[in-house]
Amino acid sequence: MLPNLFASVVLVLGTAGLASAQAPQAPQKALKSICSWGPNPTNLELKVYVPAKLPPRPAIILAIHYCGGTGPEYANVTEYSALADTKGFVVLYPTTNNDNHCWDVASTRSLTRNGGGDSTGLAHMVRWAIRKYRADPARVFLTGISSGCLMSNVMAATYPDLFAAASCYSGAAAGCLAGSPGSSPATADRACGAGKVVKTPAEWAAVAHAMYPGYDGPYPRFQTWHGEADDFVSYPNLAEQLKQWSALLGVEFSHNVTDTPQEGYTKMVYGDGTKLVGYSARGVGHVVPAHETADLEWFGL
Ligand SMILES: *[C@@H]1O[C@H](CO)[C@@H](O)[C@H](O)[C@H]1NC(C)=O
Ligand SMILES: *[C@@H]1O[C@H](CO)[C@@H](O)[C@H](O)[C@H]1NC(C)=O
Repeated sequence: MLPNLFASVVLVLGTAGLASAQAPQAPQKALKSICSWGPNPTNLELKVYVPAKLPPRPAIILAIHYCGGTGPEYANVTEYSALADTKGFVVLYPTTNNDNHCWDVASTRSLTRNGGGDSTGLAHMVRWAIRKYRADPARVFLTGISSGCLMSNVMAATYPDLFAAASCYSGAAAGCLAGSPGSSPATADRACGAGKVVKTPAEWAAVAHAMYPGYDGPYPRFQTWHGEADDFVSYPNLAEQLKQWSALLGVEFSHNVTDTPQEGYTKMVYGDGTKLVGYSARGVGHVVPAHETADLEWFGL
């Protein structure tokens, strides 16, 4: 049962790739392999897209792949590299080869700042890239889909000081899979994906605070997209993420805006809409197509 679910996700994501292949095809962008960026406790890999013309103090986007994928595959099915050419920012495409290529969003080491898990390796990549490209440390951003969005939630909770904003797709709150034996469809406890891990905003905030105890600075602005027909990382996980980030960012639900940015999508605005936004996509399943331009707008790029 679980391996079948896993296969179907890979299949669905493959289809998403095909869908984006129908868009005017930019030639495939050359990624640079980076062999060493500092501590790498979980043997991650890193490829980087650097546009030919890089402005001074560029921004950085950490783009985190789905389960079963790789950084280069994720680069292939999204427009972030093409947009980097026109907007002038660096894109980091990390890869995990562990746990069926799914990011560790379950173990204590990954759910703890400097805990020696995937989150630690990703944080070191970002710090290396800021030095290497003399980037603006105040303009480092996160995106990802599915496993990559679960990991975006974890990165924003464990390293809130590294990131200015996140915009991710089809994920779940930081700590949703805490204590699960694994993070992939084949290894994970199903409660989180089934939408059965339900907490109050204060409880979710406490989960995140425990990942970086003593931190009292600001958290990244957060935007998260979810399909209402998602039966894999099911729809209640949108509300749980919004609860977590509303408590961490100190904003309350304000109002919905229907048919934004397109028909069938509802924009769920918190506070004045500058810190927290959800997008609820009617009739969309597990794979919400990347809305790269909207991501960049959220990042202020
Ligand atoms: C990216 O797409 C190109 C062209 O469709 C393909 O040849 C290449 O194998 C793909 N690379 C990856 C890593 O998926
Ligand atoms: C819009 O707002 C209400 C709260 O008034 C919320 O319960 C509802 O789920 C939201 N609608 C959509 C489509 O997300």
